Amino acid sequence: MGKILVVRGDITRERTDAIVNAANCSLLGGGGVDGAIHRAAGPRLLDECRTLGGCRTGEAKITGGYDLPAKHVIHTPGPIWHGGERGEDALLRSCYLNSLRLASENGCKTVAFPSISTGVYHFPLERAAEIAIAAIRDYLAAHEEIEEVRMVCFDGFTQRCYQAALDAAEGR
Ligand code: APR
Repeated sequence: MGKILVVRGDITRERTDAIVNAANCSLLGGGGVDGAIHRAAGPRLLDECRTLGGCRTGEAKITGGYDLPAKHVIHTPGPIWHGGERGEDALLRSCYLNSLRLASENGCKTVAFPSISTGVYHFPLERAAEIAIAAIRDYLAAHEEIEEVRMVCFDGFTQRCYQAALDAAEGR
């Protein structure tokens, strides 16, 4: 089974085969990690995104990485938190599973994720971390082709939350 690592850093510097972008449904860029990825990738990323016709929440679409060190960017709009009664948990799980499925289909062996939906979209962090780690573990258990998944956390608190969720899932 592939390795899951929780690291602190800037996902635009990751040298994995793919990095995942916490996008919005337009796929035309935004703030947060979306803005950082578009800035680092350069204008050709937006040019390609314009051809994709948007993306539904929980689904994912793949583009080139352009000026990023990563070969591909997988764009997935996470759910906006509305209190947890509108299927947010399932949609967040789908973001991780659909992104990994696209990675497999495109021959990616290493993938880096940001903490999807826990910024502007206000998804509770601990709850998101548990959902993310469970989804990634479930996928890796059935897909040997993915060798490493890196949760790239922009701040220490996020990193501690994901590390705690990973330790709990691994029985540490
Ligand atoms: N590398 C890694 N993580 C980052 C980076 C970066 N360079 N920049 C921000 N983050 C982190 C944030 O600190 C947060 O933990 O990514 C996580 C997700 O936060 P957002 O980027 O706000 O994403 P999200 O909550 O999913 O909201 C998506 O915000 O930027 C817009 O266009 C985007 O409308 C969409 C919405």
